[in-house]
Amino acid sequence: MVDKTQASATQFTPACFFKFTTETQRTRSFFGIASLLNHLLSIKLTTFQCRYKSNAAASIGTTKFNLYLCAMKKQIVIAIDGYASCGKSTIAKQLAKRLGYIYIDSGAMYRAVTLYFLQNNIALDNTTQIETALANINIDFRWNETARFAHTYLNNQDIEQAIRSKEVTQNVSKISAIAQVRHFLVAQQQLIGKNKGIVMDGRDIGTVVFPTAELKLFMTADINVRAKRRFAELQTKGIEMSLEEIKINLAERDHLDSTRTESPLRKADDAIVIDNSNLSPTEQLDIAVLLAENRNK
Ligand code: DC
Repeated sequence: MVDKTQASATQFTPACFFKFTTETQRTRSFFGIASLLNHLLSIKLTTFQCRYKSNAAASIGTTKFNLYLCAMKKQIVIAIDGYASCGKSTIAKQLAKRLGYIYIDSGAMYRAVTLYFLQNNIALDNTTQIETALANINIDFRWNETARFAHTYLNNQDIEQAIRSKEVTQNVSKISAIAQVRHFLVAQQQLIGKNKGIVMDGRDIGTVVFPTAELKLFMTADINVRAKRRFAELQTKGIEMSLEEIKINLAERDHLDSTRTESPLRKADDAIVIDNSNLSPTEQLDIAVLLAENRNK
């Protein structure tokens, strides 16, 4: 059983998602009769669910019951796109936790491919080498109890720290502009989100990966604010990069990401823009929750 709040040690592989869905569908039928009651009791259930979730941490029984409650609500897809370091993953993680949804950091998948390409000296102009490399790449996410979030794994290795390195950060935009890389990852992302109940953040989620997502957010923030936030984040991780270096890297990545030929970063026509330059994480989460609940009806 995959715990949709990510509070388990289960690996998030496509196979697990299918297993989860089958169980969810069974749950949905089980609660078929209860749907009318659910309608009448929705306020009570939601309140209970929230209170219940705050204690959610561990027991399997708790998780299962929480899942049953989630299964009674319509599941939607939430696509979050935006510029580098503008708080996409913060809002996406918190929103997923609040809704009991799966959270997928699509940027981590591009970073994982970049790491593999760097480690194996893949020539970026050699189609055959790229295709062979992609065939040897297996990415999945596994819950890390200490960090309290899912770590990215590449071929069974925890690469969560390695993919945040300066080298990967400086090469990722170039490698994610390669059409084969995008096709390879977009197919996996679509498979993971096939059964909804997912929050995914990235650059092309609302435009290419899930063009029919029920809720699309486009995050933006002033580049100076973004650089300062990134600087503080890297400091806590012990990664040395000056504020100026970070600012240059952000601007370069934004430029490359939005001007590439293959699925460039752009706001989907139906996306809602959130400029969080002057918003706290709680304030932006409140906005997102309100929007999600509105689409979830
Ligand atoms: O979200 P991030 O900064 O970790 O993403 C790293 C890079 O991956 C980003 O500069 C562009 C690329 N990316 C992409 O092209 N498409 C996505 N859906 C997500 C990330």
